[in-house]
Formats: sequence, structure tokens, C-alpha cells
Amino acid sequence: MPVQASSVESPVSLSITQRPRRLRRTGTLRRLVRENTLGVEDLIYPLFVTEGQDLEQEVPSMPGCYRYSLDRLLTEVHTVWQLGIGAIALFPLIDDHKKDNAGTESYNPQGLVPRAIKAIKEACPEILVIADVALDPYSSEGHDGIVANGQILNDETVAVLVKQALMQAEAGADFVAPSDMMDGRIGAIRRALDAEGWINVGILAYSAKYASAYYGPFRDALDSAPKFGDKKTYQMDGANGREALKEVALDICEGADMVMVKPALAYLDIICRIRSHTNLPVVAYNVSGEYAMVKAAAARGWIDEEKVVRETLISMKRAGADLILTYFAKDIAQQLHTKRIEF
Ligand code: PBG
Repeated sequence: MPVQASSVESPVSLSITQRPRRLRRTGTLRRLVRENTLGVEDLIYPLFVTEGQDLEQEVPSMPGCYRYSLDRLLTEVHTVWQLGIGAIALFPLIDDHKKDNAGTESYNPQGLVPRAIKAIKEACPEILVIADVALDPYSSEGHDGIVANGQILNDETVAVLVKQALMQAEAGADFVAPSDMMDGRIGAIRRALDAEGWINVGILAYSAKYASAYYGPFRDALDSAPKFGDKKTYQMDGANGREALKEVALDICEGADMVMVKPALAYLDIICRIRSHTNLPVVAYNVSGEYAMVKAAAARGWIDEEKVVRETLISMKRAGADLILTYFAKDIAQQLHTKRIEF
């Protein structure tokens, strides 16, 4: 027998006029007053590409994520597009013998990335392709820039990044996404794109990119860990917030179309602050380490993966992100599709 209010002895009643629980009473009501949603249109899916044929190598520290050879990549892109995901971000695994200090392979027009972009655009013309601009996958030193005497050269590196971005535009990229954190690269790339007539190729700037331990699994996936030192002379210090606003302001002045915060989960305050400083779309990068933590705990049965992912990604929307770059994109799109869950 359910307990009736009237059967509760000596009922007590607070004399309050505001009862927030009224709006949480039923699922329909909660949906009506929900402030944020997560939809498939908010998602960008990162994909790893490798040389070879018929390859689909699972990244050990990123279960469910694979390095695809080009042929398999195209099948995957189709699946992603069918699920309603509108954009992918491409990351290459480059053979060691093609790596050098100057990242020469990064602007080879016959390289893996331009071949992948062309093939994707042929197979699935409408999907938006975002190409990462940085030297680390191509660098024998595992750094995002050219190294001299243990230092990362800024302006010399930007000259190479410009070549890389132009080559990606030529291959058909919709957006180039500089993730290197060199000074002045957004402006240099914008000017070069415009000079070559690529006025419609956009720039997604990794504006607030922190020197983070959360990138570990990604560096495993691409074999791109620094060979010496760390990335602290170019990526940002995790203790700083105002500096992110400075970086964003510069990137906007220099011509960025969208700005990104990376990582996302430990930097939700940065997303929130940037949101209130710009009207450009803000992108949150839910990085490899954030993905790996959830997968590892879920594999042990310690957390409910679907629920934790939902709660995590909605926190990024709530903080102010318009878009989320996430390795969970496909899972979420699948869940939204089968209507098993509601965000
Ligand atoms: C390369 C780049 C990195 C990531 C995206 N682009 C690694 C790094 O800066 O060392 C990390 C993405 C992730 O961890 O998911 N410049």
C-alpha cells in the first residue's frame, strides 16, 4: 500500500512559496524545463588514418578507436555520415622513415592526409573534413615545431604550417585546425589561404590548448610523443585562465572562424569564460585521456559508461560549448538513433 499523505501522522508543512522540486516531478516536466541538449549535430568525430590496406588496428589505450587504412576509413566515414555526424577530424600515423625535424612530410601533396581528404570528399562529399595543422605526427623529435638546440622555433615553424594548411586546402579540407600553439600562425595561415584563393576554407583554432597529461593515449595512437622534454614552451600552463582569453582574442583578430578549448573536462571554466568573451562558435575537445578514463572504469564495471558519457558531454554544453570533438561521437549518435537514451 502506498503511503498516503493523509495517513502520515502529524504532517508537517514548511511555509515556503518556492519549491524547485515541482519542476522535477516527472520526466516530461524535466524535459520541458531542460536548459541544454546534446544532439548529433553538436558532434565532431576524430579519426586516425594509417598507410596500408585492409587495416583496422584498435588503439590499446583507446578501446573502440581504430587506426584505419584508407580503404577501411571510407567505410567508417560512411557509417559516421549515416549516423548523422556532420564533421570528422583527421589524424595520421606517419611511418618513422618519413619523419624529420622540419616535418617535411606534412606538406607532401601525395602524403597520407591529402590522399585521405580527397578520397573522403569523393566518397562522401557533404561530410565536413577538418585537417589538423601541426608538425608532431611528422616530426622526428615528436614536437609540434622545428627544434634547434633544444628549443622550438616559432617563425620557422609557422612557415611550414602555412605550407601544410595550403596543401590541405588544395586536397579539399573544409577547415584547417592549427593545434600547434605557435604564435601568429592563425594570421599567417589566413593570409596565405586568401592569397591562394581559398577564401571559403575555414580555420578552427586550437586557441586554448593546455600542456596536458590527458593527451597520452593520442600520442600512443600516433606514436607522436616528444622525444625529449615536454610541450610547455608552447602549450599553455594548466594553472592559467586569463591567458586563454588572450590567446582567443589574438586568434580572433588573426582570422579564426571557430575557437577550441582543449582538454575539455578539466577546463570547463575556460570554456565558460571564453563563451562570454566571443560570439564565435566554441568547440570543446573531449580528449583521448578523458575517453580512456571512462573506458577503463567502465570495463571494470565501476561506472555506467553511457550515463557518465552523457553527463560529461552535457557539462561541456552547459559550460558554453557549441560543438564537441569527441571519440564518443559515434556511440552517442548510435544511442540517439535507437532512442534508448535522451539527452
Ligand atoms: C597534435 C595534437 C595532439 C592532440 C590533438 N592534436 C597531441 C599533442 O598536442 O600532444 C591530442 C588529442 C587527444 O589527446 O585526444 N598537435
